[in-house]
Amino acid sequence: MQVLMNKVGVPLISAEKTLNHIVKYWVVVALLGQWMFAAYILSIYALPTIFGNSALTFSLSPGQGANTESSAESLVFFVHIIPAALMAMSGLFQLFPSIRKKYPKFHRYNGRMFLTLGLSGALTGLYLTWGAGFRFSDLGSLGVTFNGILIPIAVYFAWKSAIEKKFTIHRRFAIHSFILINGVWSFRLYLMGWFVVNQGANGNSASIDGPADIALSFASYLLPMAIAEVIFWAQRNRHSGIKWFAVTFAAIGAIITTVGVIAAGTMMWFPRITQAFEGLF
Ligand code: HEM
Repeated sequence: MQVLMNKVGVPLISAEKTLNHIVKYWVVVALLGQWMFAAYILSIYALPTIFGNSALTFSLSPGQGANTESSAESLVFFVHIIPAALMAMSGLFQLFPSIRKKYPKFHRYNGRMFLTLGLSGALTGLYLTWGAGFRFSDLGSLGVTFNGILIPIAVYFAWKSAIEKKFTIHRRFAIHSFILINGVWSFRLYLMGWFVVNQGANGNSASIDGPADIALSFASYLLPMAIAEVIFWAQRNRHSGIKWFAVTFAAIGAIITTVGVIAAGTMMWFPRITQAFEGLF
């Protein structure tokens, strides 16, 4: 601890600054991962549809939804998928304080779009899973179902507090909404990261209902939400021990996201983007 103090006992490394740097790093890595996800969605779902090559989408989509015979289910599927690209492209800008301050109108409109599309993603997702039956297993779908139930609750409080101009509450629920709406993105990061760390499957199954699959499907949103709460607590508190505690949690979150973005990007998204372009051009 002495190494961290100068001669008059002032800390050389500030916990608050370290926390800010880690959170900034985390947001930048997440932004890169979100854009990769958007590029993937546009490449395998939007472009083949525009070019009239749905067979390519069927062959590249990891799920069953793209291959449905029912036109109603197919419509809901695309209403579910395409806005996901838009959210992944612009959602994270909501978290940049400089953008919020400089362009409040953008923050308002982008926020409304993000929350509306997130809400629609949750409702269409619940329908696709339990109404249309696009699930690999019942047990393996519980994590994403709970995620889909929490989204409307978080969105309601984020929106209500913004209208009421209760900005501390708004910030808290907006961040939880953001984490929840991106739960399915995080799940891909966590799953691919898990495969990398374990050098293959470990507690996973083809129907995504192995113990690791189930744990990761809940952890993909509950862990970042818990870390966000620890950070909020540290920001409200002057005690440097609590701030260092938050630094540790934020660092864990940032490392998981980094490993996940690299793993999902290289194992899941880039290979499929490349295949989509090879199939189209
Ligand atoms: C609101 C945030 C959400 C976003 C951004 C989102 C995004 C996506 C994306 C991009 C896909 C295509 C799969 C891929 O190619 O990797 C997908 C498929 C799907 N999602 Fe979501 N999703 C969200 C929420 C949910 C929720 C809450 C549920 C369930 C409760 C859900 C259920 C499904 C289902 C069933 C599919 C079809 C899987 C298949 O093709 O078999 N989604 N979603």
